[in-house]
Amino acid sequence: DFLTLYSPATVANMVCGFDVLGFALEAPCDTMHLRLTNQPGITIEHEDDFNLPTEPARNVAGAALLALLKAAPAGTGFEVRIRKAILPGSGIGSSAASAAGAVVGANRLLGSIFSREELVRFAMFGEEVASGARHADNIAPAIYGGVTLIRSVEPLDVVPLSAPPLHVTVVHPQIEVRTADARQMLKQQVPLKAAIRQWANVAGLVAGLLQADYQLIGRSLEDVIVEPVRSILIPGFAAVKARSLEAGALGGGISGSGPSIFMLSKDEPTAQAVAAAMRTVYEQLGVDFHIHVSTIN
Ligand code: HSE
Repeated sequence: DFLTLYSPATVANMVCGFDVLGFALEAPCDTMHLRLTNQPGITIEHEDDFNLPTEPARNVAGAALLALLKAAPAGTGFEVRIRKAILPGSGIGSSAASAAGAVVGANRLLGSIFSREELVRFAMFGEEVASGARHADNIAPAIYGGVTLIRSVEPLDVVPLSAPPLHVTVVHPQIEVRTADARQMLKQQVPLKAAIRQWANVAGLVAGLLQADYQLIGRSLEDVIVEPVRSILIPGFAAVKARSLEAGALGGGISGSGPSIFMLSKDEPTAQAVAAAMRTVYEQLGVDFHIHVSTIN
């Protein structure tokens, strides 16, 4: 009587779209099993070796479900078993996958009483446990799929965007970057000149996606505000970007708050060539890494 679902990795901050643009990957996915219980409340179990907390209020899936329970019929309870394939702290939405998967599964068990927007709102409580910030740029694409724009968090305004086929190469150098730290280091003020360049790129990227204009997408994948600050935390960042562009990538940047780096390509052979270029950079640097070649889904 368990419901099984697969909750996808996501890339937040789609280069110029810090906190507002994100997309879902076809893989990797966490596997989650959920069922309704006779006792009210939440039980969490992990079927992996990441030693994540299981106390519901301290667990991202648990915190999301506690938010959902407040709006669910009295006496509702869930048991959740999570097998994570998305490494915590890798920068491809590991916490969002747990939080989003939990509320999507719970909603299915309750007969789909909540809208997708309500599910995003519940899942953001999980994100808050993970990073101290209720950002939705991983949660929304995990729940809606594809590319999403979070035009506003308060009130919540999620805009799903259509996009042409895009292949994604993600490299995860094996260092850990805590999202909370990566947020702390950002400057609170932005010069007007940089802001103008950034919103021109966001508009260009959205137009490029809607019009399936790969050249425009490529030109717009530029971040003049966050990347210059955060990229210093990531060994090999500049080399990965340069080699990937030489291999034919349209562009890319830091995935979420890092340390993963993602690159978009028009076709699968290019995405594989980008993977080879990334591999060369980290082999030369002697840094351990994982690479995923996937698609926006
Ligand atoms: N937008 C968030 C941040 C995503 O960069 O802090 C974190 O995954």
